[in-house]
Amino acid sequence: MISDEQRREAIQQLQGAMALEVAFVGVANSLFSVLARLGAASPATLAREAGADEGYVTRWCDAAFAFGYLEERGDELALSDLGGAFRPEAPGTLVPFAVQSILGAHMAERAAAFTRTGERPGEVVLAERETVLRWFGPMLEGQFSPLFEREILPAIPAFGAAGERGGLVVDLGCGNGWYLRALAARWPRLRGLGLDGFSENIRQAEERARQSGLADRLSFREGDIHAFALDEPASLISLNRALHHVWNEKARLFALLARSLAPGGAAVIWEPAWPSQRTGLREIGRRAMAFQNLSEHVQGNHFLRPEEIEAALRSVGLTPRVHLFAGGNEAVVVGTRE
Ligand SMILES: C[S@@+](CC[C@H](N)C(=O)[O-])C[C@H]1O[C@@H](n2cnc3c(N)ncnc32)[C@H](O)[C@@H]1O
Repeated sequence: MISDEQRREAIQQLQGAMALEVAFVGVANSLFSVLARLGAASPATLAREAGADEGYVTRWCDAAFAFGYLEERGDELALSDLGGAFRPEAPGTLVPFAVQSILGAHMAERAAAFTRTGERPGEVVLAERETVLRWFGPMLEGQFSPLFEREILPAIPAFGAAGERGGLVVDLGCGNGWYLRALAARWPRLRGLGLDGFSENIRQAEERARQSGLADRLSFREGDIHAFALDEPASLISLNRALHHVWNEKARLFALLARSLAPGGAAVIWEPAWPSQRTGLREIGRRAMAFQNLSEHVQGNHFLRPEEIEAALRSVGLTPRVHLFAGGNEAVVVGTRE
């Protein structure tokens, strides 16, 4: 027998999903940002200024009003405080939540289909939604750069050591390049090379490095992590949420990592910390990790326990140390070449 409470909970969950779906339509079409610039506008003006279709924008305005993103101001509409928080340029923007909800729905639908067939098509599935793909980098930056700047960077001595010494930092699977921008902005003697398999990520990384005035020290290349080659030994080689994508060929990758580091250099590997016991997944902060691991399966990947990364670093002669952040949900494993 289904209780009223179970039904209420399901309705609440559905409302939450719909709210983020409505937000995503606004994000993908710059409707929050354009309305912020206009102050207040009719749906027709908003559509014109955003270069979007009036019919869709009119319907979106109704839905965004219903979910509290817009307020009426006379005959016009303006952003509420909550709506303002979905502007990509708002400090601490809520955009990553909207993007994640749509990407999550897409990956869950794919997982539903492949659960019957067992197919695991790989990374291509991520790129199937054109409106989502270009938000992939900003989503990750919004989710993880505050934690990096606030907690991870100050806690890991390898960053300061590389920063003082200068030289080359390599980011394998660099996304939109936010991590290299953070390091290069802090340490002027560092140069950065980012590698990623998605051309859209490389395009955004180059553009943002230019906008930040760091393009003379940061370069980005489209390519495969498995076959990276450097012109000089690196002070630091990082993989942020990228190792689980290439774990199937870990022996070759870790040998290449160790060979590519300068003496005293370090490999810095940041991954979600998969718990050793299933009960750990019930913690509220780990639910998203469990959901994402289902979508990783579609891509041919799975999340790793920090001990597995530690062992892989040790196997190629690097000295590993595990650092945990975000209540133990995020692991940064540093492997130093002594
Ligand atoms: C979860 S994203 C993390 C991106 C970025 N490091 C960040 O933290 O924002 C993983 C990245 O690894 C890249 N990637 C996965 N497998 C790759 C491969 N074999 N070669 C190059 N890039 C790869 C993907 O394109 C994606 O940008």
